[in-house]
Order: sequence, then C-alpha cells, then structure tokens
Amino acid sequence: MTTQEKETNAEINKFVASIGTTLDRFISQRQQEFPYAKGELSQILRDIGLAAKVVNKAIMGSGLIGIEGPAGERNVQGEDQQKLDVVANVRFIRALTRGQEVCAIISEEDEEMIDTDNHDAKYIVAMDPLDGSSNIDANIPVGTIFSIYRRKSPVGTPPTAEDVLQKGANQVAGGYILYGSSMILTYTTGYGVNGFTYDHTIGEFILSYPDMKVKELGAIFSYNEGNYNDFSEGTKSYLTYCRNQKYTARYVGSLVADFHRNLLKGGIFFYPATSKSPNGKLRLLYECNSLAFVIEQAGGKATDGKRRILDIEPHNIHQRSPLIIGSPAMVDDVMQFIKNEQFQ
Ligand code: AHG
Ligand code: MN
Ligand code: MN
Repeated sequence: MTTQEKETNAEINKFVASIGTTLDRFISQRQQEFPYAKGELSQILRDIGLAAKVVNKAIMGSGLIGIEGPAGERNVQGEDQQKLDVVANVRFIRALTRGQEVCAIISEEDEEMIDTDNHDAKYIVAMDPLDGSSNIDANIPVGTIFSIYRRKSPVGTPPTAEDVLQKGANQVAGGYILYGSSMILTYTTGYGVNGFTYDHTIGEFILSYPDMKVKELGAIFSYNEGNYNDFSEGTKSYLTYCRNQKYTARYVGSLVADFHRNLLKGGIFFYPATSKSPNGKLRLLYECNSLAFVIEQAGGKATDGKRRILDIEPHNIHQRSPLIIGSPAMVDDVMQFIKNEQFQ
C-alpha cells in the first residue's frame, strides 16, 4: 500500500456514517475513496440508484400495467426474456449512457459489448439488469447486479475487448439492488460494504446497514435441490454434513435475494459445477464477480471450487462459472469436501 493509499484509508476509517444518511450524501462524503476520480464514479453510482428507482416502480406496478410475463424473445443465453428483463435493461443502459461517465456496458441481455459512444469516459459497467426474473410472475423478489471497472484503453478511443474482459479483482465498485419487501441497494468500492433502504415517501435511499459483515459461520445452506443427482460426490457429502449439522435450507431462486439473506444472517450459497454443466450456470462478469467483491469486503469468501472468483481471467463476456459464496468458515468446509475432485 502506498503512503497516499494509507492516508486515504485512515481518512475513510475516521468517517463513520450514521444510519439515516442519504445515499447521495454518503457518496459525497466518501468521495475520497476514489483519489484518482473527479466525481465520475460517484455519478455512476447515482445513475444506478436513479435507474433502480425507475425499475422498482415498473416492478411494483407490473401486474397493473401489463408488463409481467414473457416478452416472447430469447436472450443471448437462450433463456426466455421477461418483459421486465427488457424494461430493466433499457432503463439501466439509458441512465448509464446519458450520464456520460461510462464508455462500455456489458449486459446479460445483450450479446455484444455496448459502446455508449462516450469515448472520453473512463469506466465500464457489467450488469445483470434483472436477476431472478423467472420469479417475477409469482411476486418473488428480484434484483439487479453490477460491477464497475476502469478502462484499460486510452481515454478518447473506442472501448475494446481488453476493457471489458478484466478479472473481478480489478473492480472499482460492485453491488446489487434487491427489489423485495423493500428496495435495498448494497455496494462496495473496496472500503467495506454499505446497504441503503429506499424510502419511497421521500424518494431517497437511506443508509440502513453500515459496514456490513457476514458471520464467520452461519447456519443456512442454499442450492437447487433439483440438481442434486448431478452434483459431485464431494458436494453431496457436504450436503449430508449440512443436514447432520441441522443447518436450515433456504433457496429463493433469485441469486440477489439468496445472497442478501445469507449476507445478513450468515450462510452459504452454491451453484456448483455439475456433470452436465462443468462451468456451472451463473455468469462470471455480472453475477459472480460483483457478489464476490461484496462478500470479500464483508469478510466472506467466494470460489469456483478451485480458484478465488476474483482471480479468474475472463475470456468471454458471458462466460459461466461455478459459485460457492458466503460465510468464510462454510466456504472452507465445502473446499475440504471437494478438494480432490476433477470438476468443481
Ligand atoms: P437470471 O434471472 O438473471 O437469468 O438469473 C437467474 C439465476 C439466479 O438468479 C438464480 O440463483 C439461479 O438462476 C437459479 O437457477 P435455478 O433455477 O437453476 O436454480
Ligand atoms: Mn441473474
Ligand atoms: Mn437477468
């Protein structure tokens, strides 16, 4: 750590934001987290907050205005797109493009990198605009997941593949929005994790979970039981261990919701490799990396079964990765059960 970074850290640690601080004020107060930025990263976080409010409104009213249900198209992953997938994608792209701080966007819903034409911008955003969208018709919580990177190519030129194919450790910010019984925005810039609850009466995100830390050892395990027969022997043994420990099984099927619950209460989520899908299901750039950054900053761990998620060098913007994420002692336990396996 350089002297300047140490001084910055000390400054930030002095500042303990109080519950009730608005997101906007919090971002301004923590501007010093970005010593090389001139407010652009703060503005991107504000743009994300704004798009989230618009998407939240669409989700809350979806049953009334006829935008729940499938859009009749399939996305790049070959999955059915929901109308709200499209709405969320458009809203976030619009907010991030108009803000002019982002030169390229990677979205689950778009096959290619989106060049925003803001070639003087320094930042890249990778996002899953609507996570868990197959749940939307049943009124089950959904989310948005995002990661922000600094570009590698020179400012003033078109963004390149090298800009968007960065490992998760290069993130300058990562986080998620949970559209649940309340809307919550949680993010990190590498100086701890903070969560903000939306107060719709005043239209503001309010700091409600300052400096979040995950329990060393939780008692919740989250996975899709329907995939059990395809799991490796080590994974199955770990599940038997969880049952013997009398852990509680909880699985929403919306990654953001499962992750957020486990972050608050302590637990482990896994979507491992299977014999059929050796690369798992979840997407590295806009699901695994963002949440891995958050969980590490909260004291937890994230791995694909072999490597730290944040160290994986991506080669494709939509590549998948196995994901084991949560309380650090629980991730360590899984690793003990699977350490000698071929796939995972
Ligand atoms: P998305 O809606 O963005 O495609 O993501 C769905 C993901 C994730 O939210 C969830 O954890 C996982 O799919 C659930 O998958 P299964 O239905 O296979 O359990
Ligand atoms: Mn998703
Ligand atoms: Mn999605």
